[in-house]
Amino acid sequence: MKIPDGPRLPFLLQSPYLIARPLEFLEKCARNYGDTFALRFFGPKSPPVVFFSHPQTLQQIFTLEEEKFEWGKLTYVFQPLTGAQSLIMLEGKQHQAMRHVLMPPLHGKQIYAYGEAIVDITKEIIDGWKVDRSICIRDNMCDISLEVILRVVFGFKEGTRYEDFKQLIKPFLAGVSSPLNSVQFFFSFLQQDWGAFSPWGRFVRCRQQIDDLVYAEIADRRDRNTGEDILSLLMMARDSQGSPLSKEVLRDQLMTLLLLGHETIASALSWAFYWVHKQPSVLEKLDRELESLGSDADAIAISKLPYLNAVCNEAIRIYPIAIISEPLLVKETIELEGYNYEPGAILVPCIYLAHHRSQTFSEPEKFKPERFIDRKFSSYEYLPFGGGDRICIGKAMSLFEMKLVLATVLSRYRLALSDKHPVKPVRRGVTIIPSGGCQMTVTSLREEVKTQKRSARLEVSSK
Ligand code: HEM
Repeated sequence: MKIPDGPRLPFLLQSPYLIARPLEFLEKCARNYGDTFALRFFGPKSPPVVFFSHPQTLQQIFTLEEEKFEWGKLTYVFQPLTGAQSLIMLEGKQHQAMRHVLMPPLHGKQIYAYGEAIVDITKEIIDGWKVDRSICIRDNMCDISLEVILRVVFGFKEGTRYEDFKQLIKPFLAGVSSPLNSVQFFFSFLQQDWGAFSPWGRFVRCRQQIDDLVYAEIADRRDRNTGEDILSLLMMARDSQGSPLSKEVLRDQLMTLLLLGHETIASALSWAFYWVHKQPSVLEKLDRELESLGSDADAIAISKLPYLNAVCNEAIRIYPIAIISEPLLVKETIELEGYNYEPGAILVPCIYLAHHRSQTFSEPEKFKPERFIDRKFSSYEYLPFGGGDRICIGKAMSLFEMKLVLATVLSRYRLALSDKHPVKPVRRGVTIIPSGGCQMTVTSLREEVKTQKRSARLEVSSK
């Protein structure tokens, strides 16, 4: 099979390079070979792994007929966490049907119902910030996004079950994503329960405790469904046969939303805080826009602010949280850009490189929110949430939450980056997070700044 050109680097070095320094490696390949290049991870004669970033080709890939490929199953490593019936484990008709059930609570006007909770949670968590103290933005954003999932998705707020769940879930998620522990998800032979002190044994026991709490909550809700959170809405939903979802199916979807909707938003917000404070002109402009709303603005009004929207979009353009979209494994020969990809080839839509094409985004390495005000980008040019049938179901909710958290924090505090050196993007799985979590210092309360500005204006006018 004739395939696009790609790095001459020996195949045994290609994947370690990509894993160790993904952005540098991808940029180098794009510079040398353009929008499309082939890697040979599995040996010189094995099927190629081809990366794409041209919008037209991405459009073709995202609209391919289903029978031509199967999903690359990158997310399958999460199965011990999310369960086999999770949306991310399903394919074809079952996948579409589950998306149909999950989309309404995460879409359209429904997300406005979560606005008050998001703002309240943000206020509760930032209440403890003190002037002159250093804070890790990512840790704080993780606390906010976790609390949002617990309240908005699971409907947990207070009480013993909520406290127990929180106690269990934090170390559970931290353990899952720690580099050492996460190895066991990639290799099934490591998944052996050798008692409560073995790594897998610990994981399985903790998961059981979490499941017990989730099932107890579901059982309670069968009697008193409030209809206010996503679990309640899912319990009212019916599958294609008209039946309610079983407790196991509900549990799998809740764990999926928790896993995919927690750190992603926290990382996106950390990048937004970083860029806003890296470039004082952006903060100034954002401040003016937020002030123009007045102090009693509601969540919907905040979410419609054009510059705030542009800042959030640009933050996940420059470092999209996911480097790639779900890869496709070719099942029937697929023709793209004049090449025929035979069964076994892997096609990878590359979000990071699509966002760094200078033909689409001028000076792509610069943070310029204005580009989202001056122009509308197609969903194949700008795709932080992926594309096609598996596009992120949390897209609307993520942008809404990002805007509310950013606006709430900036209306309360003045912050400054603690370190003058640029924060670097570091890989975590297939996501990019800010190195060191983005350390910032609370320099003053917003009210003090406003009073100082007001008195300075008065002084000037009285002269
Ligand atoms: C800024 C935050 C987020 C980013 C950048 C993001 C990005 C993505 C990307 C790139 C994908 C893969 C799409 C593809 O393969 O083409 C995805 C899938 C997914 N995301 Fe998100 N996500 C975010 C937040 C969330 C939130 C808040 C939730 C849920 C509450 C969520 C739930 C999911 C689910 C369930 C999928 C799998 C969809 C499927 O397989 O059909 N994500 N996300």
